[in-house]
Amino acid sequence: MQLGWLEITLFSIVLTIVVSALFVRGKNWLDPGFWAVFALVGSLVMFSVLWLLTFDSLKKMSFGSKRVPSPTVINHRVGYSYDPDRKMFVPTIGEEELFFGKKWSEKEAFQLITKGKLAIQSRNCMDCHTLLGNGAYFAPDLTKSWLDPKWDTMIKPMVGAETKEEAISKWLQNPEYYATWQRRMPNLKIDDQEARAIVGYLKFMSAIDTNGFPDHFGQSALAY
Ligand code: HEC
Repeated sequence: MQLGWLEITLFSIVLTIVVSALFVRGKNWLDPGFWAVFALVGSLVMFSVLWLLTFDSLKKMSFGSKRVPSPTVINHRVGYSYDPDRKMFVPTIGEEELFFGKKWSEKEAFQLITKGKLAIQSRNCMDCHTLLGNGAYFAPDLTKSWLDPKWDTMIKPMVGAETKEEAISKWLQNPEYYATWQRRMPNLKIDDQEARAIVGYLKFMSAIDTNGFPDHFGQSALAY
């Protein structure tokens, strides 16, 4: 059985009432100790539930779990398509493709996206962007940015790159030269190695199953 928030909440409340009722047997309900038992048992039950949920979340967020791919996903074509059963867009992991001209081992891929994450943190990209829904709303959400059709249609010819990863990497190093919409991204002094790592991180992130967020990304005929 799939346990949702409703089952867990109801279970915690029932457990608190049952256990507290056992402890207060024979006590008068006007006695302050009666309610102290409920407060204490309620806190202990919720502490245990949050503790279990924390480990459950950590398991679900780890590499290679159902929703979060292994770092080597950067060696594959990533897409985003509608799944009629789940009624939402889901990432699709396709055939192998080279990334910056090579196939990355698990260790190399892990180091690359870790470096990308650190570079993103060091420049505080979330001051302007959202990643996985967290951050600010000045600039586009970056969760599926790797899948933005504009890299192929607009940026590749603009920066003179052969592949999408090179196009993004060149663009990231000089966003102020290649403004696409009205708002410009400032030059954040990202060097070539950092830019490559950031692109690795963006590709990896686009392959995370985010329950259909953002909906219809890159599919709107109006925008392109
Ligand atoms: C001061 C605000 C600001 C910061 C900080 C910032 N950006 Fe941007 N970013 C923008 C704006 C504005 C755009 C839209 C520019 C355009 O379309 O020409 C943009 C666009 C982008 C795009 C293209 C998104 C798409 O799909 O169209 C990427 C990728 C990107 N930024 C990555 C980053 C990364 C990585 C960092 C941190 C290293 C970062 N940005 C930090 C403002 C910012």
